[in-house]
Amino acid sequence: MKTRTVTLTDNATGKSIELPVREGSTGPAAIDISRLYREFGYLTYDPGFQSTASCSSGITYIDGAEGVLLYRGYPIEQLAERSSFLEVAYLLLYGELPAREQFATFQHTITHHTMIKESLRGFYQGFYHDAHPMASMVGVVGSLSAFYHDSTDITDPRHREIAAHRMIAKMPTIAAYSYKYSVGEPFSYPQNSLGYCANLLHMMFSVPSEEYHVDPVAQKALDMIFILHADHEQNASTATVRLSGSSGSNPFACISSGITALWGPAHGGANEAVVHMLSEIGDVKNIARFIARAKDRNDPFRLMGFGHRVYKNYDPRAKIIRKMCHEVLEKFGDTNDPCFELAMRLEEIALKDEYFIERKLYPNVDFYSGIIYRALGIPVNMFTVMFAVARTVGWVAQWMEMIGEPDQRIGRPRQIYSGSQRRDYVPLAERAVSG
Ligand code: CMC
Repeated sequence: MKTRTVTLTDNATGKSIELPVREGSTGPAAIDISRLYREFGYLTYDPGFQSTASCSSGITYIDGAEGVLLYRGYPIEQLAERSSFLEVAYLLLYGELPAREQFATFQHTITHHTMIKESLRGFYQGFYHDAHPMASMVGVVGSLSAFYHDSTDITDPRHREIAAHRMIAKMPTIAAYSYKYSVGEPFSYPQNSLGYCANLLHMMFSVPSEEYHVDPVAQKALDMIFILHADHEQNASTATVRLSGSSGSNPFACISSGITALWGPAHGGANEAVVHMLSEIGDVKNIARFIARAKDRNDPFRLMGFGHRVYKNYDPRAKIIRKMCHEVLEKFGDTNDPCFELAMRLEEIALKDEYFIERKLYPNVDFYSGIIYRALGIPVNMFTVMFAVARTVGWVAQWMEMIGEPDQRIGRPRQIYSGSQRRDYVPLAERAVSG
């Protein structure tokens, strides 16, 4: 079959270049511009990567116009309803749903790598008492590379796999310790008899002086939220992990860089920002004023939990989470949670507003996730940490896919230089005051 091509012509010189088109299995094709600078002398300019595919990946597919999300081809709705977070983790890492024995082995491996070294536990004492848990996560995850030298040879597929398992297994422990330290409570060791999410809840909320039983509804809700957050193709944090990994950095350091990118309010930090925004709005009668602020170009305020670079339709994860809100609030006896009421009214009003309709701004996954976290008793400064625990699976799967590619190269974007042209150095004594 003949490869499709696109011809680019410089109207000033009449010079042309024929570029191949790379097709995926679904979704838009991409013009392969890798020869463009070498043979044509131009770079391409795409700040924020609005039209740039940075890699080819077989892990996650999003159709933003239709609001579709597939992990390895499986619709998110089916996985959220019928699968479990660890099964989804296996699917993302290995490409197929596990057979019964494969799953049992995987589950056993993840469950039995949950502890962290005692000296790593000691790292937490170095943080200031009111450290944000995301701050200690970044530091502690990065320092895993100082402990596990037997899994940092990235040229060895087995090392890569062990590192992947370790990160998925230890992330709940690191997250829970970050929380425990921030509230001044003793750390709880992981319990290997518990499932992935139950273990996380247990480590967060149990204290040595009392028995603690994880609520099955809370465990199931968290498991489902983790499925929804597990991967999302080339978002800012995943792209960061890939870029860090492309230079050959060890996987622990790469995941730490992903956590840093996730932290911002435009990305994973949005779940925390939504709850702050809802409490700032405070009452339905104030919604109009906040919507007006979101529409005002001179006001930096944005409706947090609204809008998405890829989804120009309702985020399919938000639909699932919205439904789950009802169930969780019902179970935890707070169906009249004013925050949830406010969120629903805000959504209703925004979705009828011309500004949001025109720009195709819909609620995203973070609009409702914070409300569920709150109902589960998870403190606001832990929301983005929860996201990081779940997304670790996606980061690790994407990192493994990239490192495994035979033609993998260092990621190195170019720039349009807009600074001073060449000029000569002036000694300090001869320099006039600048500015
Ligand atoms: N409130 C008000 N206006 C908005 C919003 C919003 N939340 N989001 C986008 N817009 C406007 C924006 O001002 C622009 O208007 P105009 O064309 O008049 O200049 C237009 O919509 C396009 O926005 P953009 O900033 O060019 O879009 P983007 O693709 O660069 O940004 C986004 C995507 C998610 C960063 C942005 O929608 C946003 O800041 N949303 C709020 C933060 C948020 O909820 N983030 C979570 C994203 S989902 C989970 C995750 O990825 O972690």
